[in-house]
Amino acid sequence: MLAVIQSSAVLGVDAYRVDVEVDLGRGMMVFSTVGQPGTSVCEARTRVKSALENCGFAFPQRRVTVNLAPANLRKDGTAFDLPIALGILVAEGKIPETALADTWVAGELSLDGRIRGIRGVIPMAVQARREGARRIIVPMDNAREAQMVGDLEIVGAHHLLELVKALVDGGLSPLPSPAAEVETQTDLNRDFDMADVRGQSLARRALEIAAAGGHNLLFIGPPGAGKTMLARRLPGVIPPLCAEERLECAVIASVAGLAELGRKAFDHRPFRAPHHSVTEAALMGGGPHGRPGEVSLAHHGVLFLDELPEFKRSALEALRQPLEDGDVVISRAQYTMTLPSRFMLVASMNPCPCGYHGHPRQACTCALTAVRSYRNRISGPLMDRIDLQVPVESVSPLEMRSDSPGESSAAVRSRAIAARDRQHRRFKGGPTLCNAQMRPATIRKYCALEPSASALFARAIDRLALSGRAHDRVLKVARTIADLAGSERLEDEHIAEAIQFRQLDREAP
Ligand SMILES: Nc1ncnc2c1ncn2[C@@H]1O[C@H](COP(=O)(O)OP(=O)(O)OP(=O)(O)O)[C@@H](O)[C@H]1O
Ligand SMILES: [Mg+2]
Ligand SMILES: [Zn+2]
Repeated sequence: MLAVIQSSAVLGVDAYRVDVEVDLGRGMMVFSTVGQPGTSVCEARTRVKSALENCGFAFPQRRVTVNLAPANLRKDGTAFDLPIALGILVAEGKIPETALADTWVAGELSLDGRIRGIRGVIPMAVQARREGARRIIVPMDNAREAQMVGDLEIVGAHHLLELVKALVDGGLSPLPSPAAEVETQTDLNRDFDMADVRGQSLARRALEIAAAGGHNLLFIGPPGAGKTMLARRLPGVIPPLCAEERLECAVIASVAGLAELGRKAFDHRPFRAPHHSVTEAALMGGGPHGRPGEVSLAHHGVLFLDELPEFKRSALEALRQPLEDGDVVISRAQYTMTLPSRFMLVASMNPCPCGYHGHPRQACTCALTAVRSYRNRISGPLMDRIDLQVPVESVSPLEMRSDSPGESSAAVRSRAIAARDRQHRRFKGGPTLCNAQMRPATIRKYCALEPSASALFARAIDRLALSGRAHDRVLKVARTIADLAGSERLEDEHIAEAIQFRQLDREAP
């Protein structure tokens, strides 16, 4: 007696179909699993047996063989518990085979038959839909996240016994579509409004440009100038995710087991702020199960590294590849995979260990060599990838006491959205979503300078000895500045403003 249940496994951020074949043969009671099962899949035996027995189903007194096909890929995780249990019941004739036609199943079982949440439900649902499945049965805990994937019936299951009953009676009902949940960006960020920031017009402007075009940014300045404060306000001014971006973010969160918040969480761009003690593995991802790291969790959003020089050198250097390519390649003994990681890097640092180098009123107490070695913690290649290098000076007491609030986040955000809309129209149908993502050919196409702007740029390249990469990055920033101004042409003022943000790494302390 053979039963086949369609299920799925996840590799990186992609899911593939796995057929769980259950065969009940003659012979002594043995329960074996084949098809490259990892440890957690082998342990499914114990959970499935107890769950079935505790739900009142006698475990078959025969030889039970489970094959996970295709056999050439290694399977990990606990998602096969539920398909194996259902497969046994179908093979025994306790559930009609037709009840699970065109249906994919995934879920972990606890010993009493309750169905527990798993990771990666969203990519599974995406793949199920792609392969023409009609519905997917997932743990109730994951049902809301699975609903992010349209055109597929989602069944959320609490308990094995309940589920089996529904399958037998034909009473399996899909989850109703969620009511529209309205919570605006401003609601969520009301504690962090740009209106709180006094002065800092240059830093505010840089934040607006970064938000509009998705550029990397570094604030450098003395303690207490408002660097962290400004960076924390970025989520409130950044344009919302578009539909494609939202699904990609949800897939990553789902694989990382962080999507239980449901779709509401994806109305906002991710904002990840790992502590400077973060390990390279936690930053880049990996581990035995290939979990996404901070760079992938920040995909289409912001990776905020406060106190940049405090991070481990190896961690910072590892950022170079994802910053350039928009994805991160993880190689381990068991697997190699590529995870998306198109994030905006936002960082802050002091100019020297004491913090006051270059301060107009306070003397720096650091030796020159100490200043140099502090700055050298940020390598040239990393600095080269930062589009907006922004000096932040301390606010004057007069400015701090001023009663007039700064411009609100809502006002800044509406300009950033308008600029992002221009970009969407420009890149329509292509892989590029914002100016920061332009590739060399796209840059040549959309960043042609007016003649006088071109001459100005040529002089600046010479004077600042800009690298080829810096050259391209300045052009992208200039494109965003023009988009904010509502201009299709790249004029002198746009390129000049972009160049001004590339001065810092040229100045030796
Ligand atoms: N420009 C500013 N406008 C209003 N408040 C400010 C400003 N700068 C600093 N503050 C006040 O000082 C506090 C500390 O600022 P913040 O943490 O951003 O400084 P920082 O530049 O990150 O300093 P550090 O280099 O020590 O990390 C803020 O929470 C705020 O209360
Ligand atoms: Mg700070
Ligand atoms: Zn100093």
